Amino acid sequence: MEKCALVTGSSSGLGLEITRYLVESGYTVFGGSRSGTDFEHENFYDVELDITSEESVEEFFETIREFSPQLDLVVNNAGICEMSSVAETTLSQFEAHLATNTIGPFLLFKHLEPFLIKDTTHIISILSTAAHYGYPNVSAYNASKFGQLGLLESLKKEWKDYKLRFTNLFPGAINTPLWDKMGSRFSREKMLSPSDFMNVFSFVVEAPPTLQFPELTFLHKDGFIE
Ligand SMILES: NC(=O)c1ccc[n+]([C@@H]2O[C@H](COP(=O)([O-])OP(=O)(O)OC[C@H]3O[C@@H](n4cnc5c(N)ncnc54)[C@H](OP(=O)(O)O)[C@@H]3O)[C@@H](O)[C@H]2O)c1
Repeated sequence: MEKCALVTGSSSGLGLEITRYLVESGYTVFGGSRSGTDFEHENFYDVELDITSEESVEEFFETIREFSPQLDLVVNNAGICEMSSVAETTLSQFEAHLATNTIGPFLLFKHLEPFLIKDTTHIISILSTAAHYGYPNVSAYNASKFGQLGLLESLKKEWKDYKLRFTNLFPGAINTPLWDKMGSRFSREKMLSPSDFMNVFSFVVEAPPTLQFPELTFLHKDGFIE
């Protein structure tokens, strides 16, 4: 039977790169996002998903269930990031980060359990160095990614009898559309490229099933961007 993967945030940036790579590697991919993508492949299902809405997450899983009762790979990737000082961040901006980056993964995992395959399902979460390390002017992003890490640490223990593989990725800055609204202060040349990211991602996915990478931090060789 073909392997099935779920990817959140498949319309842009890393999620789109991951989707392309997985379908080319023989996976059937159920991608979720609000805006969708022009990318087409016979093994790609471009499904509408607003990760902040429980109703939308439930409908996403209902669509997947029509095609497959189980998932070999889950890529928890959708996320937002905006820059502003604590004083300039509005309550609704802060809440939007928590809704997308923390509550979104909670809703995803809350409804994922029936699709797990004991001893097999691999859950890869695209966190960020910002889940471990504080950066100035991204307090909402920092708080939401630290929160997501807490969720994952608890979940790993709750689901330990399933003997799944969990991989938490903590990349530094990557040159994707996420940075388009952040101004020109940050040099794109000092960021990882999407293909650098995919080198690490494909290495993790292709590793033998007896091997797991619980946490991987990786950066551009020149270090952090602040
Ligand atoms: N780029 C970096 O420097 C970097 C570094 C470390 C970690 N990361 C993490 O990597 C992940 C992907 O980021 P990226 O750089 O690829 O950014 P991106 O190009 O902006 O893509 C973000 C994706 O998330 C989706 N998304 C946002 N809100 C959503 C919602 N409410 N429901 C469903 N999907 C939603 C977007 O789709 P729609 O807008 O169509 O819904 C889009 O597909 C994020 O979690 C980010 O925090 C990025």
